[in-house]
Amino acid sequence: MSAYGTEPGAPTNDGNPGETSELPQPEDLGFGRYLGAHLVLAEHDGARWSAPGLLPRQALCVPVASAGVQYGLSVFEGLKAYRGADGGVHLFRPQAHAHRFAASAARLGLPAVDEALFVESCAMAVDAHRKLLPPYGRGSLYLRPTIHADEEFLGLRRAQRHRYSVVVSACSDPAMKRLRLWAEPHLIRAAVGGLGAAKTGANYAAGLAGLMHAQAKAYDDVVWLDAATHTRLGEAGSMNLFVRIGSRLLTPPLDGCILAGITRDSLLQMARRARLDAVECEISLDDLAIAQQRGELGGAFGCGTAARIVAIDEIGDSTRCIRFSAQDACVSRLCAALKDVQEGGTSDWPQWRYGLFG
Ligand SMILES: Cc1ncc(COP(=O)(O)O)c(C=O)c1O
Repeated sequence: MSAYGTEPGAPTNDGNPGETSELPQPEDLGFGRYLGAHLVLAEHDGARWSAPGLLPRQALCVPVASAGVQYGLSVFEGLKAYRGADGGVHLFRPQAHAHRFAASAARLGLPAVDEALFVESCAMAVDAHRKLLPPYGRGSLYLRPTIHADEEFLGLRRAQRHRYSVVVSACSDPAMKRLRLWAEPHLIRAAVGGLGAAKTGANYAAGLAGLMHAQAKAYDDVVWLDAATHTRLGEAGSMNLFVRIGSRLLTPPLDGCILAGITRDSLLQMARRARLDAVECEISLDDLAIAQQRGELGGAFGCGTAARIVAIDEIGDSTRCIRFSAQDACVSRLCAALKDVQEGGTSDWPQWRYGLFG
């Protein structure tokens, strides 16, 4: 066991494998398993949010007879804090996450958390768990801000009490994996006008059966196609998609059916600054098959806060298998550049790193 997280008086984690004194080496943390012992909590009484405070994580009870549980009236975010090369600690693009959090809340009729409260509460959560933060380059502290309707009441209406919480989890630096994805032919996860662009549990609930289909066919994850024609790529279960065709780096557009990934946006901006031809456009399975026949299909990858960049080997359905290049240097270059930008191994994009403390 590693002692990188231990110090007298550090938060403990009763009943959780991530108890601070029992943390494994950063490379063995994985994702989502080692939760911090405390959470940050604020309450909305119908008028305003209270000041955020710290609470033992297991002290927060969520009533079963609340719209948060019964009707899925909750939204969340996922962002990371890193220890930089200089030993300081920073959040990656918290303002962008705050903005998306507010948009998700608005779509579900929940009270928004403003940017100042979002950043303050994330900083408080990191500060309370600073000893859980892996050393520079070896992992991160993942933060999960959540708003849920908390009033005990049965019936669909806007709740009069909401809670906002931030839970943290110590994570490994994601390994550069390679995935096989199943293009789901029958189920849909989101349609125009629906919830696809909101980060809310309903999207993941709607997606689990697709993931199970994919896994039953020995694929790693699902690719969601557009609801109207079942021909165009949307996103994977919890990642946005990029594909290289010829010299162009393509990603599906923000059509309201996919999440506006902060990683996707970061990569688009980085790629454009590096003068890559990065384009948001519709991508059909037929386009990919034609590019494959012409020998123009390069690499493909999924991206997101949790996984950073994951190479895609193939996308299959019951009639065909599209194989991407495993030798695309562009994918590994982007992954290394993104890691540097996120962790502060470069002075580029300083506006994306929100310094917390040294
Ligand atoms: C459905 C979905 N799409 C895309 C993403 C990637 O978003 P981000 O890069 O902001 O983490 C996520 C991340 O959680 C997701 O759940």
